[in-house]
Parts: sequence; structure tokens; C-alpha cells
Amino acid sequence: MKEIKCGIIGSGVIAPVHLESYRKVPGVTVRALCDIVPGKAQALADKYGVPRACLDYHEILNDPEIDCVSVCTDHASHGQIVADALDKGKHVICEKCLTATDTQLDLALKAHKRNPERVFAGVFQHRFEPANILLRKMIREGKFGTLLTASLNVACLRTDEYYNSDPWRGTWAQEGGSVLINQAVHHFDLLRYFLGEIDSLCASYSNRVHQKTIETEDTINAILKFKNGMHVTFCATSGSFAVPWRSGFFFTGTQGYLEYSEFKPVFWKFLDETLTEELGKKFAECEESKAIQAGKNYYGTGHPAQIADFIDAVRDSRAPFVTGEDSGETARAIHACYESARTGKWIQL
Ligand SMILES: NC(=O)c1ccc[n+]([C@@H]2O[C@H](COP(=O)([O-])OP(=O)(O)OC[C@H]3O[C@@H](n4cnc5c(N)ncnc54)[C@H](O)[C@@H]3O)[C@@H](O)[C@H]2O)c1
Repeated sequence: MKEIKCGIIGSGVIAPVHLESYRKVPGVTVRALCDIVPGKAQALADKYGVPRACLDYHEILNDPEIDCVSVCTDHASHGQIVADALDKGKHVICEKCLTATDTQLDLALKAHKRNPERVFAGVFQHRFEPANILLRKMIREGKFGTLLTASLNVACLRTDEYYNSDPWRGTWAQEGGSVLINQAVHHFDLLRYFLGEIDSLCASYSNRVHQKTIETEDTINAILKFKNGMHVTFCATSGSFAVPWRSGFFFTGTQGYLEYSEFKPVFWKFLDETLTEELGKKFAECEESKAIQAGKNYYGTGHPAQIADFIDAVRDSRAPFVTGEDSGETARAIHACYESARTGKWIQL
């Protein structure tokens, strides 16, 4: 098996998660780390025994030994780094949210069009959760009958200290928003994963409890009209001191109803009584399967799952499970939410 050599650009909070995920994949080594803040990449390299650290990501891109890069920087820098990496012949996996603006997104997507043989993946690790895969299958197989409504609520807490911890957080220019583009982005993406493409949307946002620290939104509401005709309501806030991390989806169809919280079913009823009886067991099996994590084609959950899939995609010259193009569509819908909130208009995607 040919050894795959990787580099990580951005050595902050999420970088060690990529590092540890690469180390779980046989035949993969992380050869270089980068961060513009002096000493930051070196400290991480020392901790994990990575042979090289640098300040300028072009050094990694110019190294012919490096096959793949993880982009783990702030949202607004993703587009340029992804485009540069693809143009230098690297395979790329880029953290969420793929970009902060449509212009940056187009930069990345055009670079992939120029280099279609390179693997380009966008991180949405919750798509690898067995329970989410099962729920998507149930929806696609019509187990709910005609889906009439769905709603999603994300309540989380990000404190002033959190927003002050890095200069890019809470800024339109670098984070590109806050609670939607950064925390609720995963759940918002799952709406697309479960229900398909969004046709149009309208949104409104506000800053309720972080006025002193951030210029972006800490609270947002939206109505999403999907191409299948469903209207979905969405709300999220990062000002929830009582419940620091909680999410819930509600699905109502002509044949079934499901309350799905923290990626687990909490209440359900289907006209098909067998399905109603079996559902708890099926989702319990999903929980068990998360613990097994064995075999080449079983990718476990979360980042290790997504990184393993990315490496296999590189080895097999195939598309990854979450393509850059697909994660880009979620980014585009998120940018549209902000545009709608600013203009007061419905946005057609
Ligand atoms: N998938 C997840 O669950 C998850 C969780 C946390 C963060 N993230 C994402 O990961 C990314 C980084 O988030 P974080 O929390 O690690 O942020 P962070 O601020 O801790 O780290 C980002 C690092 O990138 C560096 N950087 C910025 N521009 C650079 C450049 N041009 N070249 C080299 N380094 C540069 C910064 O100096 C910083 O150290 C974001 O996109 C974030 O949304 C994803």
C-alpha cells in the first residue's frame, strides 16, 4: 500500500482532531503542520512528533511529497487555500463551513473544475452517524408517507470568552456569521442530507446577548422551502445559558411522526405498527454499531470516519462521501440566509 502523506493548514482547536484521525488510518502519516501564528504549528508538531512546521501554507503546497491537505483555518480563508491546494495538485478536505461567501465558494469550486482528478471533500462529520444515515433512508423510502412539515431547533451557548478567544470569531469578514455558519451548520446541513435540495428561503437574525462582543448573529430563524414542496422552520441560538448544547428535529408525515433529539429518536408513531415497534431496536443497533468501528468499509463516526473515507477516496480515485460541491451547496444556502435577513427578501437558490 502506497504511503499517503498529509499536511494540515491551521493548527488551532480542530487541527488535533484531523491529526488523530489521520493517525488511525493505516499507511497515512502527517508530515507537516502550518499556522500563521509563530510557534503554534511547532508546538502541535512537537506534541505529536510531526517532522515539519511552517508559517506559510505555500511551503506545504510546494512540497511534492505531500499528497493531501486538511484546511483547518477560519471560514473566510478556506476558499483561497482550497483553490491554491487543488491547483498545486493536492487532494483537499476542508472544514465546515466551506466558505464565508459565494465568491470564495466559486473560487474553490472553479479550482476543482480545473483539477477534477483531485479529491475534494467538505467536512460534515455528522453525515457519517449511523442513526442519521438510517433516518435519511427512512425518509427516502417514504416511511413517513408524504412529509408535511419538519422543524429544527438548535440551542447552544457560546460565551463572550469564547468569542474573544480568537480574532476571527464573531466577525462578518472572517467567520461570515456566527451561530448558523459555525454551530448550527451541522444540523442545517443534515436538513439537506435528509430532505434534499432547498428551493428558496427567508431568514431573520439578531444579536440578543452578545452585543458587546460580536458583530454577527447569535440568534437566527428561517423558513426553508425544499424542492420536494416541504416548508421547514429552523431556529438557532448561541445564547442559551440553560441548555449549552441541544438540538431537536420534528418530522410530521401523513403516515408517521418522529421527534429526533441529539441524533436519537425520542418519540415516534407510524401507521405501520411493525415499524413503530421496530424503530427503537433499529436505532439502538445504530448506537451499538458506532462502538464496533471495524473493517475497511466501516468508517465509524465523526472525523475519524470522514478522514478514513477521504483517504480511501484518494486511494480508489473516487468521489468522497461528502464532496466539496455538496458541502458547498450547504454553504451557499447559509450565505443566502444571511442575505435574506439583510434584505428582508426571499432568496431563490
Ligand atoms: N467539524 C467540526 O465539528 C468543527 C469543530 C470546530 C471547528 N471546526 C472548523 O474548523 C475551522 C477552524 O476552527 P478552529 O476552532 O480550529 O479555529 P482556531 O482559531 O482554533 O484555529 C484556526 C487556526 O488557523 C490559523 N490560520 C488562519 N489563517 C491561516 C493561514 N492563512 N495559514 C495558516 N494558518 C492560518 C489561525 O492562526 C488559527 O490558529 C473552522 O472552519 C471551524 O468552523 C469544525
